[in-house]
Amino acid sequence: MSHGTSLEHLTLVQAKEELARLADELAHHDRLYYVENSPVISDGEYDALSVRNGEIEERFPELVRPDSPSHRVGAPPANSFLKVAHTQPMLSLDNAFDSDEVNDFIGRVRRFLRLCSEVNIDLVAEPKIDGLSAALRYEHGIFTRGLTRGDGHEGEDVTANLRTVLGVPLRLDTKSPPAVLEVRGEIFVRKDDFLKLNLRQENTGGSVYANPRNAASGSLRQLDPSVTANRRLNFYAHGWGEISTQLGDTYSVILDTFLGWGFSVNQVTKLCPSIEDALCVYQEIEAQRSELPYDIDGVVYKINRIDWQDRLGAATRSPRWAIAHKFPAERAFTVLRRIIIQVGRTGALTPVAELSPVTVGGVVVQRATLHNEDELSRKDVREGDTVIIQRAGDVIPQLVSVVINKRLEESKPFIFPEVCPECGSGAYRETDSRTGRLEATRRCSGGLICPAQAVERLRHFVSRDAFDIKGLGEKQILAFWNDGIIKSPADLFNLEKNDGKTGPSLSLREGWGEISAERLFSAIAQRRTISFDRFIYALGIRHIGRSTARLLARNYGGLDELVNSLIMARDVTSDSYRELLSIDGIGETAASALIEFVLEPKNRAVIDELSFHLEINEVFAPTVDSVISGKIVVFTGSLESMTRGEAKNRVETLGGTVSSSISSKTDYVVVGQKAGSKSRQARDLGITILSESQWLEMAQPLSTTTER
Ligand code: IVH
Repeated sequence: MSHGTSLEHLTLVQAKEELARLADELAHHDRLYYVENSPVISDGEYDALSVRNGEIEERFPELVRPDSPSHRVGAPPANSFLKVAHTQPMLSLDNAFDSDEVNDFIGRVRRFLRLCSEVNIDLVAEPKIDGLSAALRYEHGIFTRGLTRGDGHEGEDVTANLRTVLGVPLRLDTKSPPAVLEVRGEIFVRKDDFLKLNLRQENTGGSVYANPRNAASGSLRQLDPSVTANRRLNFYAHGWGEISTQLGDTYSVILDTFLGWGFSVNQVTKLCPSIEDALCVYQEIEAQRSELPYDIDGVVYKINRIDWQDRLGAATRSPRWAIAHKFPAERAFTVLRRIIIQVGRTGALTPVAELSPVTVGGVVVQRATLHNEDELSRKDVREGDTVIIQRAGDVIPQLVSVVINKRLEESKPFIFPEVCPECGSGAYRETDSRTGRLEATRRCSGGLICPAQAVERLRHFVSRDAFDIKGLGEKQILAFWNDGIIKSPADLFNLEKNDGKTGPSLSLREGWGEISAERLFSAIAQRRTISFDRFIYALGIRHIGRSTARLLARNYGGLDELVNSLIMARDVTSDSYRELLSIDGIGETAASALIEFVLEPKNRAVIDELSFHLEINEVFAPTVDSVISGKIVVFTGSLESMTRGEAKNRVETLGGTVSSSISSKTDYVVVGQKAGSKSRQARDLGITILSESQWLEMAQPLSTTTER
């Protein structure tokens, strides 16, 4: 193609046309180069096209297209990434560690779908790349937004960076793109690029990455997209989120469609007509592992039929239609130098092995957890022992066993301390109320006076999934704590008001300046409004993780309601206690941790102080709008059209909750065949009773949102 018109004579209309042509042409060559591996023009010719594109855009900045090839070289730097909620949560995968567990998976699928053993189940087997997942949104074929996975519910907007990634088309190569399409997949750095990158980092004094996955994550989260552009990130599509139209009947066909639209798709992927074939593919891939250009940690099997995937749905954390068959963990020998005792935020004393540094699975390991006192004495681990260390994927390195014949003569059994190494308070093991046995964990009784716990508690409070206050790391919190400036979470919200009143102002403290102090104040101010589930999680109550916090937020609309209900639940015969346990996902351990927490006056004082400073956003927004959303549903008897698991899944997808028992809080009782006493109970309480067909009618989304 010729660029006859010189730049200065180009009219607006001509420029617009030429930019459109260049976008097309460059996208075509990108595809030949990155996806099909068969370029037809030289690098020089390619560069000439992009230079021309850049020059025209410079003269007519108003004509820069959303799919402009110039985005590939990176937009101007950002200050931070915007947090954006995923329209559908980004889940993770369940793991299987051997073929029995894979067979169990298929067994579960058959039972769930009620398929007899004669029915064939096609699977797709693909490498599980050790990268990080990203979600790419296309509106009418144009790439509009890209998010990291984040915590699965909320990711970071890294659109400008994703525009620079190979295998991410800026525009879909199709005449009739879907109105909305969110393609999900893996971002990764190739092994050879990783080595080159680290060499470059070393030479320029930059930070060296521990493994390709960290390099990918670090590179994708660069504030300056031109840095990302230089990092050679890759993308393989392996799924989707929100879609405005069905993509196809099978996963394998959809992957082909993605390929046709310009996405990179892993070519090692195989369609397997049976589980036996899939297990053979696992072995083939494992044999190729070291030769593959990227790091993998297993093989993912996915049910090929999309209607089955839809029926199977997902549990809280992972879909039921896929499983990751992991490769065996990698192991190494090393010497255990010392056993230290760490005190966690809940006061748990954890023995940790300090090791002579050793490389396991490409990562240098210097520490391994020894779990607890019992585990330590069971393995009879001693200082000076030669030990076997294992690392499985992302999991903290584990100490597998001691090499007894290498034990030093003078070695002595390790004596576990009975006082907290941090505050000197007594450390005790609780007795399990049900079994009467000693708990495995020894805990410091120093509660709030124990520096380890206070600082840990604060650190947890400001952590990413809790209040997410940037600029407050462990070091800063410790310094504030030592100087008595922040002793409890509520002090954070007085920091700005009291600044400079009793000592030097923050901007004069070591490690701080005016800008960083201002930034911290504003980060704290922004968090004066907080979602209810984050608030609950931030309290750091034992056994209350993120998903339990979310369940509580959803079931108890507000803080007062939650606290009052928990106080009443101290009586195990009360309705409140029954109600708490009827929440699917809350067991006795979590229930008693919650009740113990609110019964402790010191904790309630902390809650009161906090609620004085905060606006707690108590609405829990479901992703799909339906008459079921926010409602509590109880099923009784057996359903004809779906299994219990499917029914529960349907309710949760529609934003409701399933409870196992009826209370005054129940909104609907669905009565199937052979229903028992529950339907009578429901009638007595005046709760709406639905037949199976009425329920099916109700359990539909009102509208699937395509706009946000
Ligand atoms: S499918 C519901 N396919 O593994 C999640 N994931 O442990 C569906 N991953 O977060 C994911 N290779 O980042 C899928 N071929 C593959 C994958 C893959 C790597 C990652 C992905 C996900 C994690 C889950």
